[in-house]
Amino acid sequence: MTIKVNQLTKEFHLYNNQISYIFRVLEKSNHLEHLYFGKRIKHRDSFSHLIEREIRPSCNMFEGDHTSSLEHIKQEYPSFGTTDFRYPAHMVTNQIGSHITNYQYQSYQIIPGKPALENLPATYVEDSNEANTLEITLIDEVLQSKLILSYTIYSKRNVICRNARFINTGAEAFYINNAMSTSVDFPDDEYEMLHLAGAWAREAHVEVQKISKGVQSIYSARGASSHTHNPFLALKRPDTTEHTGEVYGFSLVYSGNFLGQVEVDTYSVTRVMMGINPFQFKWKLNPNETFQTPECVMVYSNEGLNGMSQTYHDIYRTRLARGYWRDRERPILINNWEATYFNFNEEKILSIAKTARDFGIELFVLDDGWFGKRNDDTSSLGDWFEDKEKLPNGIQGLSEKIEGLGMKFGLWFEPEMVCKDTKLFQQHPDWIVATPNRRASHGRNQFVLDFARNEVVDHIFTLMDNILSKSQISYIKWDMNRHMTEIYSTSLDFDQQGEVAHRYILGVYRLYERLIEKYPEILFESCAGGGARFDPGLLYYAPQAWASDDTDAAERLKIQYGTSMVYPLSSIGSHVSAVPNHQVGRITPIDTRANVAYFGTFGYELDITNLSDEEKYKVKGQTSFFKEKRQLIQNGRFYRLLNPFESNEVSWMVVSEDKKEAMVGYYKVLAKPNDKYYRIKLKGLDPDKLYKIEGKETTHYGDELMNIGILLAEDYTDRAGEYWSREKLGDFSSELFLLKEVNA
Ligand code: DGJ
Repeated sequence: MTIKVNQLTKEFHLYNNQISYIFRVLEKSNHLEHLYFGKRIKHRDSFSHLIEREIRPSCNMFEGDHTSSLEHIKQEYPSFGTTDFRYPAHMVTNQIGSHITNYQYQSYQIIPGKPALENLPATYVEDSNEANTLEITLIDEVLQSKLILSYTIYSKRNVICRNARFINTGAEAFYINNAMSTSVDFPDDEYEMLHLAGAWAREAHVEVQKISKGVQSIYSARGASSHTHNPFLALKRPDTTEHTGEVYGFSLVYSGNFLGQVEVDTYSVTRVMMGINPFQFKWKLNPNETFQTPECVMVYSNEGLNGMSQTYHDIYRTRLARGYWRDRERPILINNWEATYFNFNEEKILSIAKTARDFGIELFVLDDGWFGKRNDDTSSLGDWFEDKEKLPNGIQGLSEKIEGLGMKFGLWFEPEMVCKDTKLFQQHPDWIVATPNRRASHGRNQFVLDFARNEVVDHIFTLMDNILSKSQISYIKWDMNRHMTEIYSTSLDFDQQGEVAHRYILGVYRLYERLIEKYPEILFESCAGGGARFDPGLLYYAPQAWASDDTDAAERLKIQYGTSMVYPLSSIGSHVSAVPNHQVGRITPIDTRANVAYFGTFGYELDITNLSDEEKYKVKGQTSFFKEKRQLIQNGRFYRLLNPFESNEVSWMVVSEDKKEAMVGYYKVLAKPNDKYYRIKLKGLDPDKLYKIEGKETTHYGDELMNIGILLAEDYTDRAGEYWSREKLGDFSSELFLLKEVNA
């Protein structure tokens, strides 16, 4: 990978074997002009022939020069109000109330590797040879500010990581009203926008729409990245498929309010930007202070959506997730939420744990309801002291007993919340996010603690530490069940209220950091009423996340398929739950529930003591099967084969890095009588390797499996005399195909 700089023409070309990213400095105005982002092109001394200019009716920066309109120049980090009329990547309010900026190129530096971002999660390198970072310094002399745009190119990834930082070099404060992490101007608008939309219990549904002139956007203003939109969008060509064609991904490493915006102008130029949502954002930057934006990870793939996803999976699994658990096998867990809800005692918990242990489950997770007097969702958040009526031996005693069974013990917290009946609220009623003289709205009977204040974060750390330090806790499920309203912090001045939502998220990251520092071997799973904070920001701290409160296998096909657009299987919390399913009342076979949940971090969420003997037998088989396959699932390459948003059949597969092994999941939502013949064409195998599908007599070369597929027709000899042979499985049926290389 290289970053080539033409000192004379001030052109910058970042490239590796897969991608090129090119921009230059405009001669007269010293702004940055974007020239190209896409498939690798050959390096040339100058790319000035790529400059596109035409005289058009417009306002121009320089007299006598009718091509100096920023409206018609593709830019790297545009501003508004000096001839560009599109939405800008940044905006400030200066000392006289003006929004005009003029950040002009001053210098560049190339840094081996990738510097960390202060107080923010980001992708990283383990060796400085893995990547290079180009930092461009721009200066606005009137505002007295520096702007540093950072671009990282990895040697072996089709990824550019961008962020921006503002520095106040003057003697007076100014305000940042908008500071995107990235902005790219694409030369045409022949794209569709793909994004992940949803709600509680139906997260990450894939939406695709043709882009058109004007603005189309996804965003959150809820204080969390949210169920509604994931902080991710992709621009794909209309003919791009799962496995072929061009696509650009934009993924924000952030867990709070965000904006992902696509604007097509009247000349069909498409501006994509992503960053902290400027809505209600206003950051006071005092002299000598720096404001750092989160990172945006941009992917270019010409191997379709799946190519883009694999790039995200790889970088997020190995260079965003960190620490003790990053590469370790994740334990099979059982969580008591859907088994007992709030209604449990030590005896019940131990009976679930003991049965689970007998069936090969490795970690018991005690969910909501173990503290204060929390017998429903109206009370106790913030009183992080054991309920001795339910747990006479406390968390310490319970955790020791669970460890004594040979299992690990995990615990649920909702650290950012408080209920009014708690000691915490009574002692600190001013610690909630609320606006003076206005109603404080509740969500699930709870209020949001003001994590913009360090003393609040420190206090919660102490409460959690009291439990953690005396108990045997190997796992924490960190939940967050409501969004922010009446946003205001009494700790900040009137002109800093636009900082609260961002400071809050920085507080969340700070608490994670403190806990990880003290307890590096705890496995964190993030959760926000299911997947409302399933975002790259939290993957930096918690390598796995609970994808949805919807545990129904059929619904999960969509949720997990959508989630896999960006996030690796090693991060997708997925469990087998009871039937009828608690969210939709659906009855699905236990085999199908497991066949869906295997493609994630596998676990159970049901009262295992109530299962029939046949189900218990199956669970035993499932846990030993998963233990055998979890390396493959956690570290393999994931391919989506059949799309649940388009058909009744769903399929996906995972292939080991050496292509010697693969596991294919095939699901049929509704049974169809006397249906057509079905084949699933596989991906990612070695065309020349010979594979045996477990349970079948024949062997197949990879090329055959990828070009012809697995034939799904049932063996009619088993069914002689029946009307048709295939539909023995009923609705919500599924099959796993396990492939292993064999000698030819
Ligand atoms: C929402 C989570 O998503 C559930 O799994 C469970 O932990 C509940 N909260 C507990 O209140």
